[in-house]
Amino acid sequence: MLDLLLCNCRLPDRPEPCDIAVRGGRIVAIAPQLQAEAPEVIDAGGHLVAPPFVDPHFHMDATLSLGMPRLNRSGTLLEGIALWGELKPSLDPEAVMERALRYCDLAVAQGLLAIRSHVDICDDRLVAVEALLEVRRRVAPWIDLQLVAFPQDGLFRSPSAEANLIRALDMGVDVVGGIPHFERTMEAGADSVRRLCRLAADRGLRLDLHCDESDDPLSRHIETLASEVTRLGLGARAVASHATAMHSYDNYYASKLIPLIAESGLAVVPNPLINITLQGRSDSYPRRRGLTRVAELRAASVPIAFGQDCVMDPWYPLGGADMLDVAHMAIHALPMTARADMAWAFDAVTVAGAQVMGLPDPTLRAGGPASMVILQARDPIEAVRLRATRLAVIRHGRVLAQTPPRIARLALEGRPTALDPAAYAPPSDPTAPPGG
Ligand code: FE2
Repeated sequence: MLDLLLCNCRLPDRPEPCDIAVRGGRIVAIAPQLQAEAPEVIDAGGHLVAPPFVDPHFHMDATLSLGMPRLNRSGTLLEGIALWGELKPSLDPEAVMERALRYCDLAVAQGLLAIRSHVDICDDRLVAVEALLEVRRRVAPWIDLQLVAFPQDGLFRSPSAEANLIRALDMGVDVVGGIPHFERTMEAGADSVRRLCRLAADRGLRLDLHCDESDDPLSRHIETLASEVTRLGLGARAVASHATAMHSYDNYYASKLIPLIAESGLAVVPNPLINITLQGRSDSYPRRRGLTRVAELRAASVPIAFGQDCVMDPWYPLGGADMLDVAHMAIHALPMTARADMAWAFDAVTVAGAQVMGLPDPTLRAGGPASMVILQARDPIEAVRLRATRLAVIRHGRVLAQTPPRIARLALEGRPTALDPAAYAPPSDPTAPPGG
């Protein structure tokens, strides 16, 4: 006997409708018109059923704190860091937890079921660490939450950061973090990369550094990171987040660097929503976009997943736990509008994120986990175009959230508008590879 049967589903890589049978939290069969019974049956209505969304780069300790204690007037990264520094002494665990749990509710409703959150350890009380460890425990039935020990004020620049980082790891924080471009000198930044890689290697942990989140063409810590990751064999356990300075590197240097990144096994996590607003702030015109070199990194087979970074905090006033928004911004800002590239952007906010976080493969398949989202769209590109409604969110065979379909009708004639996917047929592209 099954636990759950989903009928009339469209999978990202399979245009013909099929049914999905679920038992014991796992998918037991995917096939057209399964002859089976289950106590719970959901008709997906020919809509897209995809693996859950994944956010491999977030700051849950700061989320939903917009305006506390004041707004970021310049809109820069540095004023954001200063503002967070003003707020930090007044943080208390209950308030951090309340904001984080409110965000997690939103994330579940949006089908976002795996999050890697950095947590600032540059506070001798470790209030945010204590709060987010408790949040990780409480949300475990719904969200895979990984925590990164993040020295926001610099591993060496902040006097107690190194000791606090080790305390946080001892308390159970999962991943080693860092911010080399915020250390006092380039040398100190490179030393911090070496120290953090050693720490991750010695403890057998994953490593995820904010790396070169800057418009400075000489901010090249990713070079040291790739070299240390290769030397210590950290490989796929290591991530360079942001890497926006790569936008400003000269082409010759980039052509030398990217093969070294590929050789190391390092993954790169760009954060398109935040970095399209933070970068290029000191430029006049032309103004740089400041996103990393996604096309070149992809061509070199460097693993890439997109992150969200911030929602309503000192750095970013918008956001809504919507990874389709992230993919949408990436497609515009990079830009990458070929159909195969847009389909890839959907993968970069779902399966690729799970890969980067070291989670089990979430691809929908017989034997795989029964965790999925029904989207009010027929394919991944349409899901991005419409930032599709999450009709149902399912984890390990259990329905966690449902949202009614979004249907706008013209008041006078009752016809559906373009908000309804049924109003347009997706175009076919004979040049696209399968799945594109
Ligand atoms: Fe970040």
